[in-house]
Amino acid sequence: MPESYLFSTVAAKLRKFREDNPGVEVIRMDIGDVTLPIPSAALIAMHKAVDDMADKSSFHGYGPEQGYDFLRKAVAENDYASRGVQITPEEIFISDGAKSDLGNLGDIYSKDSVIAVADPGYPVYVDANVIDGRGGELINGKWSNFVYLEGNERNGFKPEPPAQHADVIFLCSPSNPTGSAFTRNELKAWIDYALDNSALIIYDSAYCAYITDSDIPHSIYEIEGARKCAIEVRSFSKTAGFTGLRCGYTVVPTELTGLDEKGREVSLRKLWLRRQTTKFNGASYIIQRGAEALYSPEGKLEVKQNVDYYLANARLIRQTMSKAGFTVFGGENSPYIWVKSPSGESSWDLFEKLLREVNISCTPGVGFGDAGEGYIRLTGFNSTANTELAMKRIIAFFNK
Ligand code: MLT
Repeated sequence: MPESYLFSTVAAKLRKFREDNPGVEVIRMDIGDVTLPIPSAALIAMHKAVDDMADKSSFHGYGPEQGYDFLRKAVAENDYASRGVQITPEEIFISDGAKSDLGNLGDIYSKDSVIAVADPGYPVYVDANVIDGRGGELINGKWSNFVYLEGNERNGFKPEPPAQHADVIFLCSPSNPTGSAFTRNELKAWIDYALDNSALIIYDSAYCAYITDSDIPHSIYEIEGARKCAIEVRSFSKTAGFTGLRCGYTVVPTELTGLDEKGREVSLRKLWLRRQTTKFNGASYIIQRGAEALYSPEGKLEVKQNVDYYLANARLIRQTMSKAGFTVFGGENSPYIWVKSPSGESSWDLFEKLLREVNISCTPGVGFGDAGEGYIRLTGFNSTANTELAMKRIIAFFNK
């Protein structure tokens, strides 16, 4: 497989540029890393949790591998029951983040599962399955065993179910990197496909807090049939600034089953529990207390303020890039803006141009898959001041 992970390659190029050009201020709009500090509700809860660790009566050693009940209950009530979705705390597995879970889930499906991935898509879906040995051969940038689900302007970067069979399908909505989001009907088509094909959908909804449109479901479980075919993965990173703290969760419904090599039905929830109890010792108590506090009234308000702040940045980027003559997608139910290169330049050429001449770093679209060639991704996660400065530079450069 290619030697370096997409975001490491971008970071290395940026480092080199900075070394060669000391004093040039590059504005980062590449990796989706947040810039606002964690909400004060989480901070207060974590300070208290640190104190708990210093007292014999409230000290916590190894926690439950699947997460503390206090957080699993808070998730079930606030992220699901409040939207009319019944998910029990036992179906929720707290982890050290969505990225780990998306990769680790490969431990519970077979080595010869046919994997379908959105192209463009978050590179972890492809890379983790290649590491697990499911890729086959890399031929002209594509792995021979994978089914690529092309997102393009025709389908609004929302791939439809394929004609071929797939066993495990990775979907992300709102999408990283394009910002597109499935409607209820579009998601229903995927659930029908999964049920007809005895396939598993791994649904990455790390960005659901950015949904503003009422027709876009926040959870795949809002759609009938999903409990029988889907695992949902979520994160506290992009909503509460937990990128450096690490906490997320995965939902595996009790109805969800697979078949073992003898054709016997196996509960995926039990398999995932077995996997987690074997290879994971749980997210830290302190961090889980911080995550729990995000569901307090103050925490909810602060999370909403953070999300609104990044959405306002995304809106500004979307508007400015359009004004500067680019065709843009996303940035409405998502912190990501997907930008088409105006004169047919490759993604990496546009990346270099923005870096060298406008001093903005972006993520080249082709890094998310072949179908991303000719696009770049910008993020609304920088500060508003930096976003405004970056957009002034864009206007000055492209409207000259
Ligand atoms: C991204 O930029 O796509 C994300 O930050 C990567 C991640 O969440 O791991």
